[in-house]
Amino acid sequence: MTAGGTSIEASPTRGGAQVIFTPSGRRGRFDPGTTILDAARSLGVDLDSVCGGRGLCGRCQVVPAEGSFPKHGIESSDGHLSPRGADEAEYDRLRGLTAGRRLGCRAHVEGDVLVDVPPESQVHRQVVRKGVPVRDFVIDPVVRLYEVEVERPELAKPGGDLARLVAALEKEWGVSGLVADLGAIRDLQPALESGGHRVTVAVHNGTTITGIWPGLHDRALGIAIDIGSTTIAGHLANLADGEVLASDGVMNPQIRFGEDLMSRVSYAMLHEGGAVEMTRVVREAVGSLVRGLAARAEIAVEDVLEITIVGNPIMHHLFLGIDPTPLGSAPFALATDRAVRVRASEVELPAHEGARVYLLPCIAGHVGADAAGAILAETPYLADEITLLVDVGTNAEIVLGSRDRLLAASSPTGPAFEGAQISSGQRAAPGAIERVRIDRATLEPRFRVIGSARWSDETGFAASTRRTGVTGICGSGIVEVIAELFLAGVITADGTIDGALAARTSRIVPDGRTFSYVLSEGGPGVRLGEGEIGPASPRLLVTQNDVRAIQLAKAALYAGARLLMDHLGVQTIDRVKLAGAFGSQIDPLHALILGLVPDAPLDRVGAAGNAAGTGALIALLSVAARREIERVVRTVEKIETAIEPRFQERFVEAMAIPHASAPLVHLSKAVDLPGRAKPDAGADAAAGSPRSSSSRPPNRRRQSVSTSAER
Ligand code: FES
Repeated sequence: MTAGGTSIEASPTRGGAQVIFTPSGRRGRFDPGTTILDAARSLGVDLDSVCGGRGLCGRCQVVPAEGSFPKHGIESSDGHLSPRGADEAEYDRLRGLTAGRRLGCRAHVEGDVLVDVPPESQVHRQVVRKGVPVRDFVIDPVVRLYEVEVERPELAKPGGDLARLVAALEKEWGVSGLVADLGAIRDLQPALESGGHRVTVAVHNGTTITGIWPGLHDRALGIAIDIGSTTIAGHLANLADGEVLASDGVMNPQIRFGEDLMSRVSYAMLHEGGAVEMTRVVREAVGSLVRGLAARAEIAVEDVLEITIVGNPIMHHLFLGIDPTPLGSAPFALATDRAVRVRASEVELPAHEGARVYLLPCIAGHVGADAAGAILAETPYLADEITLLVDVGTNAEIVLGSRDRLLAASSPTGPAFEGAQISSGQRAAPGAIERVRIDRATLEPRFRVIGSARWSDETGFAASTRRTGVTGICGSGIVEVIAELFLAGVITADGTIDGALAARTSRIVPDGRTFSYVLSEGGPGVRLGEGEIGPASPRLLVTQNDVRAIQLAKAALYAGARLLMDHLGVQTIDRVKLAGAFGSQIDPLHALILGLVPDAPLDRVGAAGNAAGTGALIALLSVAARREIERVVRTVEKIETAIEPRFQERFVEAMAIPHASAPLVHLSKAVDLPGRAKPDAGADAAAGSPRSSSSRPPNRRRQSVSTSAER
């Protein structure tokens, strides 16, 4: 084999200098003068290069070892490589070359040497992203850059420049059979001219030239986006090494068409052009997110070559411009349950002209690409243990199973966990109560608010909240206050606020025919400075209706999970992962006390962060991960809770706090639970007090109809 005119011999039986690469352990003998990059390529060692070995990109950096290595049987030294030449000195001057490192394409073998390939010089590297908690995976992006020298045209050799480019790519890089986008063909000749017939090309999926730049262009970026019904979040990452350069989020402007998903479907049904309008605004919002991420990272949007997107089925369909109304009623048919690949320009996103967008596959009518992203991030399909993965939003997406079987369902929890339908509820924002503890003896509360590290009974709390006030209770605070009120005996297992306790504490106050608990008395705004007054803090109550709303929401979630357990034939689960903005903030113990999810070992219940967005990031950086999730999604068994006869039964049992009848082996060990509701009182418990307006599960079909009627 020859490369660059140098004979390369990888056989250990012949003469030449011995070169051993770590961490791969690959070794071979090479004629003096062979570059380390050529030696690596001949042995199949994972050593990166974009500039084709011209000393420009710095991707091929290696570390020659010094000393004796009896295990390998060699004496290694940097002195066994050619001395640093002009190219390495120039690279060092321009971009910096750490002492002890060499450019593999410029360092020639002169004697035996042991060469370490650091992780950042490996094409397929293992990564753990800083700032974004991501499991280990191998970076293998769908877009790769190659720099090549293209033959100049000659009268004697007819043929187009594209054919010469494709031939050069095959010869220099071994990529064959390439086709090119029109935009790339259009840019080719200007790039050849200004680059002196050296160009860098972006190759998508090993098949298509999607971009061309003159000379060396060493910047390929991608963006992973999670379109939630409330917020849209994104990460901008370097496709070469996976480094996340910027993260940001924007509100989903579709909120003005309806707070929850079914309201938006109703809007599409009832307003001509409604779906088109929602598509327009969500694309605008995603576009502004892309521009914002690029600005934060101080890069041009034209350097964005790839975008991945996850979202629930309705967000997915609306973003693509697909009518979502079939998702509003049985049989909840998806337009497609396969991954979707489109050009960024087709969905009006600002990016490089040749950029592609990849949407992870949806799983079922109410279990979307966001659930697929969460599955990819948490990999329950690789585990022996039974994992329950829950993304808690207005519509909870629930996945249960292990490597043997994976089931998925959604449950219409409604917006209570996001603070809607709660008298003092608000979104998680500075000033919102997020943690609550209630003294069992005095029934006095103490709490913490977002934006302050102090508890309300600590010195300095008032000062630390004077700019935000104490303005409401966010989802995690609601879960905690109801769980704590239950533990303190203020709320009974059937969810009734015990009015008899009004004799013991002024915190229990009559509220019509029911009672409320005063979590915070509130007060006027505090003077901040000359003529500046901080926000006033309202009186914050937990009302009987608040408790009912949370019971309905949590029972829907629990019942969905329990239904999947029934289908899987298991009575216990080994691990619970709570995902999503709300799920990640919930305290596991309080989630179990409230009965949000079935009982599980407390130390195995935890937050999964924005697992859907993390899954989008993994898919952005790994082609293998895309193949994997496409395969796994096809094996997921879908359970439609809306038509399951047992859902109602499971729902009624789950209305009690924590649950009417389920054994609570793990939770009982962690806390002293007040008397449990009797199993045969389940229906009564579900009905709650006579004043309860409804204890029916928020049936999806009914929800759709009633929302329509309201409008
Ligand atoms: S391969 Fe680009 S600097 Fe060595």
